[in-house]
Amino acid sequence: MKTITSIADIQKELLVHKQNGKKIGFVPTMGFLHEGHEQLLTVARKENDIVVLSIFVNPLQFGENEDLDKYPRDYERDEAVARKNDVDYIFYPSVQEMYPESPSVTIKVNQRTDVMCGKSRPGHFDGVATVVTKLFHIVQPDQAYFGLKDAQQVAVIEGLVKDLNFPITIKRVSIIREEDGLAKSSRNVYLSAEEREEAKQLFASLVLASKKIVEGERNPDQIISLIKQHIEMTTSGKIDYIEIYEYPTLNKIDILQGQIIIAIAVAFTSARLIDNKILIVE
Ligand code: PAJ
Repeated sequence: MKTITSIADIQKELLVHKQNGKKIGFVPTMGFLHEGHEQLLTVARKENDIVVLSIFVNPLQFGENEDLDKYPRDYERDEAVARKNDVDYIFYPSVQEMYPESPSVTIKVNQRTDVMCGKSRPGHFDGVATVVTKLFHIVQPDQAYFGLKDAQQVAVIEGLVKDLNFPITIKRVSIIREEDGLAKSSRNVYLSAEEREEAKQLFASLVLASKKIVEGERNPDQIISLIKQHIEMTTSGKIDYIEIYEYPTLNKIDILQGQIIIAIAVAFTSARLIDNKILIVE
């Protein structure tokens, strides 16, 4: 396994593999790796000859009052996790390497951003799309792996690849959870012991909601009220949003039908958690 910090160097290395007809799988991350990231690496390892992991905390996707400075980082641990997962290359650029000057061109995402995290984090997905575009150009993978933990991000990236004709296949990877259902996240370390205990209720509320839908409920507002009530009763968190859309278009729906996403975001004292469930309703 090699760690490479320079864009020119990783391009040089990967060009050789491409010329030799090797299939390149790419897993972009912001580091502080956990089992969610590891799942992406596991799937990428199975489906490619060369696996590239990037670790870059992208300033462009953090809002002014967000947690860029305190975003958790631990390169040594990440390196060990990467090694364990048989990664071939870690691309670990500095901010200076990625953005030597204020970018003169960025990507603007026009659809799927007026809802969910796009609404509460203005500019976030423009920052994600811009860095992912740069990373795709740097790595030029055949396949890139994204977790459904960030289902809106998956939808946005699929749109990016389609609309800007990237010759890359986007692979969706399902959500990896703790034993009690909490979706694994680098931000979970910022929950207090009590909040950590309460946090399992996010998933519990999604399970409750799915059960109601299976039992026949088709009114999105009823499901949203049910989740709201559950989270308010069982946690001290502040609900940021509870929303239901068609997936992956993220179009509004009046009746629960087809492939839908139930998405929630709840802010605890020092960590804002998101979770979702995608289901097909007959
Ligand atoms: P990060 O939050 O580090 O996540 C990297 C990838 O891991 C994303 O595709 C995310 O959906 C996936 N992931 C995180 N937790 C997961 C879980 N519990 N189960 C399954 N997958 C999970 O997402 C980003 O970084 C950034 O926005 C990035 C795409 C790297 C651009 O900067």
